[in-house]
Amino acid sequence: MGITASHSNYRAKITAIGGYVPPGTITNADLERIVETNDEWIVSRTGIKVRHVAPKEMATSDLAVQAAKLALAKAGVDPREIHAIFVCTVTPDMLFPATACLVQDKIGAAGAWGYDLLAACSGFVYGLTTAAHLVSAGPPKKVLVIGADTMTRILNYEDRSTCILFGDGAGAFLVETAAEGEEGFIDFVNEIDGSGGQYLKMAAGGSRLPASAETVANRQHYVYQEGQQVFKYAVRKMAEMSATILARNGLTANDVKLLIPHQANLRIIEATAKTLNMPLDRVVINIDRFGNTTGATLPLATCDAVESGRLVKGDLVLYAAVGAGYTAGANLWRWGF
Ligand code: UT7
Repeated sequence: MGITASHSNYRAKITAIGGYVPPGTITNADLERIVETNDEWIVSRTGIKVRHVAPKEMATSDLAVQAAKLALAKAGVDPREIHAIFVCTVTPDMLFPATACLVQDKIGAAGAWGYDLLAACSGFVYGLTTAAHLVSAGPPKKVLVIGADTMTRILNYEDRSTCILFGDGAGAFLVETAAEGEEGFIDFVNEIDGSGGQYLKMAAGGSRLPASAETVANRQHYVYQEGQQVFKYAVRKMAEMSATILARNGLTANDVKLLIPHQANLRIIEATAKTLNMPLDRVVINIDRFGNTTGATLPLATCDAVESGRLVKGDLVLYAAVGAGYTAGANLWRWGF
C-alpha cells in the first residue's frame, strides 16, 4: 500500500510526454496468414485490430530514445538536466547493461543515473510511483520515466493465443518538481503477488533456465500465458486497485476526468469501467491501434488523450495496470500541463 507524498515539501509534476511506435504494422488479416485465427475472434475477444512492429535494426532502447527525445523537446529541457532515467521494460536490449544506460548514452543525458524496472504491464505505474517519490525527496530535479517494449521479439508466432495480443512501442514522461502550490502526484496503490508468476512468463534466458539449444528448441524464450487465469486476476485487480485509491482519497469515479487503464484486453477495460461506474467516454482506449505494448500502453494512451484534448492541465487522472508477476498498481495525478 502507498503513502501520499503530500507531507513532503517537494511534489512531483508531469511536465511533458512523448510517444513513439515504429512504422511497421501487423493487422489481424496478416495474422490470419500466420496462425489459425480470424479478425472476428481477435476483435471480439480482445478489441485489437492492428499492432506496430519494430524493424530488425531497432531494439527497445531505440524506441525509448525516440519517445524520450520527443518529451524533452516538448519541455525544452536539455538532456544534461536529467537527474535519473527509469526504463520500464520486459524486453531490454540485453539482460545487462540496463537499457536505461543505453538510453542515457544515446540521448546525451550526462549526469543522469538510472536503471531498468521490471514489472511487466504494471511497469509504468511503478516507474511513475518511483519517480514521484524520488522527486518528493528533494532537492528539485527532473526524472525521465520511459515505458518501452519490443514484444514482437519474444512472441511465438505459432501460438495463436499470445501472438495476436502484443505490439511494440514506447512512451516517456518527464517528471519534475512542481512549483509551490502546484499539484501533481497525489497517491499510489501498488502490490505484487508472486503466486501468479507461473501464469505469464518467459521461462528461459535467466539463471533458472539459461539459454541452451534445448530451451530454444522448447520455445522457452517466448511469452507463455495462461490467458484465463490472468484475465480473471486482471478484471478483479484493475477495479480493486482503482476503487481503493479513490476511496482513500475521498474521491469517486465522478471526480476523475480520465481513467487511463493498461491496454491488455478491451473486455478487461470495460469490466473495470463498469465496476467503477465510470462511463466509457471517460476511459482512454487505444488497444485497437496498438495491441498490448506492455510497458508502453499507459504513456501511449496518455499521448492520445493529450493530443485529442481530452486531458488538460488540472484534470484528475487515474492510472491502473495489472501484469505478469503478478503485479498490480494504480496512480492518481493532477495533470500538469
Ligand atoms: O498485459 C498482461 C496481462 N495479460 C492479460 O491481461 C491477458 C488476459 N487474458 C486475455 O486477454 C484472454 O484470456 C485471451 C485474449 C488471451 C484469450 O481469450 P479467452 O476468451 O480467455 O479465450 P480462451 O483462452 O478461453 O480460448 C477460447 C477458445 C479456445 O478454443 P477452444 O478450446 O474453446 O476450442 C482457444 O483455442 O479460443 C481459442 N483461441 C483462438 N481462436 C482463434 C485462442 N486464441 C485464438 C485465436 N484465434 N487467436
